[in-house]
Amino acid sequence: MSDLTNKRIVLGVSGSIAAYKSPDIVRRLQDLGAEVRVIVTNGGREFVSERSLQTISKNKVHDNLWDKEAELAMGHIELAKWADVIIIAPASANTIAKLCHGRADDLLSTVILATEAKIMIAPAMNQHMFASSAMKDNLQLLRKRGMLIIEPGFGEQACGDIGEGRLAEPSEIAKQAADLFTSSVLSGKNILITLGGTKESIDPVRFISNHSSGKMGMALAHACIQAGAKTTLIVGSISVNIEKRAEIIHVVSADDMYKAVMKKIKSQDLFISCAAVADFKPKTTNKHKIKKTDHSMTIKLTENKDILASVCQLETRPICVGFAAETENHIENAKIKLKNKMCDAIVLNDVSKTGIGLNSNDNEVHLITKNLSEKIEKNTKQIIAEKIIDKLANNFFQSS
Ligand SMILES: Cc1cc2nc3c(=O)[nH]c(=O)nc-3n(C[C@H](O)[C@H](O)[C@H](O)COP(=O)(O)O)c2cc1C
Repeated sequence: MSDLTNKRIVLGVSGSIAAYKSPDIVRRLQDLGAEVRVIVTNGGREFVSERSLQTISKNKVHDNLWDKEAELAMGHIELAKWADVIIIAPASANTIAKLCHGRADDLLSTVILATEAKIMIAPAMNQHMFASSAMKDNLQLLRKRGMLIIEPGFGEQACGDIGEGRLAEPSEIAKQAADLFTSSVLSGKNILITLGGTKESIDPVRFISNHSSGKMGMALAHACIQAGAKTTLIVGSISVNIEKRAEIIHVVSADDMYKAVMKKIKSQDLFISCAAVADFKPKTTNKHKIKKTDHSMTIKLTENKDILASVCQLETRPICVGFAAETENHIENAKIKLKNKMCDAIVLNDVSKTGIGLNSNDNEVHLITKNLSEKIEKNTKQIIAEKIIDKLANNFFQSS
């Protein structure tokens, strides 16, 4: 089943009687994992209460282009940039006509002009309005511009007519939005991803670990599943929700992770090593809690096995992708890692930059292979993950 996990959706509600169904559309989008923000037009406000939409979306409803407070925070350009998809549902005849003309006289039409997000339009109106030549031409024009029209249904209408023009069912609108993110580029492929940090025990209550949240790995898992792959996750210490459609194996230490990877690796087409595996572990783990006997103490460390390099050295192995967190000489260091570990691709994170990488919601990476070094510009980890998976699929699985 397709889903909208981590997707940001702006729902535009315009002045059709069907606007009373818009809180249900918000719910159906949330059911699939989306975060939803709502823009209501003046017409929309006549048919649905702001309070309902605000309560259900759990976000302030946006309705005014000239709202001073809004323009300081989530203004029209911010909303336009924030969205992965904008869905206008219901889309009134008037709003559809405005889009055709590129008008920008209210918040919704202005956001539509300012966005690079995908746009979906769900018309809802009387059957004769829908059948009019003007409406047919307008929808054709919007299709030509790349907008996706969610076709209305046939049936009894609010005005008593029976015909075509009923708003598509809220669950159908959510499903069509989710379908936008589904592809089959990795259908039939098995993918193994490690993610999160490992914990290396010092004694029964203490350990050495790191700040990894598992966000990037989980975003990659969503992207792989959306692309049709059977996905297995080997999960260390994380602070994100688990992708329920994947097979999950929990581990604690680097040794556990190594064993779990080796057990699963044979059947894989692609291995993505995204976990923050500790390079070292305490040489010995104390059986009992270490007592404070002095003002300082020394813990001797010993090297952990390199999981990625070990997989790369297997006689038969999947395509192997590693992550490199660098703070200086980024590209050069990543290229050295690619060569030394003998892997097929490295995703390079510049962890010296604030606001991206470790523990943050955003990232900016370079994808480096033997023949390619490509920058993927700053975006949410989910979008970055989708771009990485798309490029890996194109590079390594296109002709198979
Ligand atoms: C009771 C009533 C019901 C309406 N229902 C619809 C409708 O279902 N679809 C539609 O396109 N317009 C409908 N309209 C007309 C729009 O509300 C009107 O064109 C409005 O200007 C739309 O504004 P907006 O597109 O900025 O939201 C209705 C108007 C009224 C008074």
